[in-house]
Amino acid sequence: MKILVTGGAGFIGCNFIYYMLEKHPEYDLVCLDALTYAGNLKSLKKALESPKFKFVKGSISDRAFVDRLFADEAFDVVVNFAAESHVDRSIENPSVFLETNIMGTACLLDASKKYGVKRFHQVSTDEVYGDLPLDRPDLFFTESTPLHTSSPYSSSKASADLLTLAYYRTYGLPVTISRCSNNYGPYQFPEKLIPLMIVRAQEDENLPVYGQGLNVRDWLYVDDHCKAIDLIIHEGRVGEVYNVGGHNEKQNIEVVKTVLAHLNKPESLITYVKDRAGHDLRYAIDPAKISSELGWTPETKFEDGMKRTVEWYLENKEWIDDIKSGEYAEYSKRVYGDI
Ligand code: NAD
Ligand code: TYD
Repeated sequence: MKILVTGGAGFIGCNFIYYMLEKHPEYDLVCLDALTYAGNLKSLKKALESPKFKFVKGSISDRAFVDRLFADEAFDVVVNFAAESHVDRSIENPSVFLETNIMGTACLLDASKKYGVKRFHQVSTDEVYGDLPLDRPDLFFTESTPLHTSSPYSSSKASADLLTLAYYRTYGLPVTISRCSNNYGPYQFPEKLIPLMIVRAQEDENLPVYGQGLNVRDWLYVDDHCKAIDLIIHEGRVGEVYNVGGHNEKQNIEVVKTVLAHLNKPESLITYVKDRAGHDLRYAIDPAKISSELGWTPETKFEDGMKRTVEWYLENKEWIDDIKSGEYAEYSKRVYGDI
């Protein structure tokens, strides 16, 4: 079995590569990644030592390049993680999100069709469903919740989902889609809430909490997401969408306080800042379908996952310092310079 993992130098993709190398040592894995600001070859250092793993630098939007790669490699399965993934950046500059997340996915779908890929798996997000009200804890996203996006990011991901389903219906391409809740764990780029707070708190910098910190996210440890994707590509029904999430809803402020407690830093670092435009209030997944059909359940409790995550960032200062020395410094100054 040969699997193409796109976006494997990013957060979830690299965790997936490590998960698969261990779980299926007989598989060949090829990572295609453009190494944008979010991609980091250092995250794949250990994988690069394996004879079953190969890295290829290139963009999923480069049609000629993608066609040649598919012709040369004859992939059985494609798992598409490659994306622009940060909501705030999509508010600043939507166009690259449309290019990568929509046109890039279209390019991969065409190559998968042309070269007879046996499974195309699109890694999507619960953000395609929009948000839920804060005062209705009884409501959850199911696979039949209408798509109702809020940000340029989520709109681009919803577009890619619709294209993926269209390639199933129109051309019979064997596709599956997973829509997962917010992930956390090692190797996450420190623009996202949890690593941002860990990295800033370590340096005694103020922690920017949007609005009143009352927005709710449904947090899942990254390995549990990887396990879900592995199950779906092997046992999921083609043409189907699977929601992935572990009923672990937290207000942002609770998450930030958890980080501070793990680092033994004072809550006085918390700084309330201007809210994000169009800020989704609450995400919450109903995972009944993947649980009943594929037997998936999350294994990592939030307390354990957070402890492991904070420890990873403390033990991998070099990985963080490397990021801080690049584009991140400018981004951080531009976005959080005033607080
Ligand atoms: P990330 O931003 O950490 O990584 C994205 C990777 O894609 C990077 O390595 C980047 O270099 C690569 N990339 C970007 N443009 C590319 C292009 N044109 N060609 C090839 N590679 C390109 O993202 P992540 O958090 O690991 O998310 C991975 C996927 O999972 C995304 O599709 C995202 O929408 C989805 N997702 C993320 C979460 C989450 O909480 N992080 C939750 C649900 C779904
Ligand atoms: P984020 O990690 O960007 O994920 P998403 O917006 O895709 O859910 O943000 C998680 C939550 O944390 C979201 O409600 C926005 C909030 N947030 C802050 O309060 N401050 C910050 O600096 C960031 C990056 C996010």
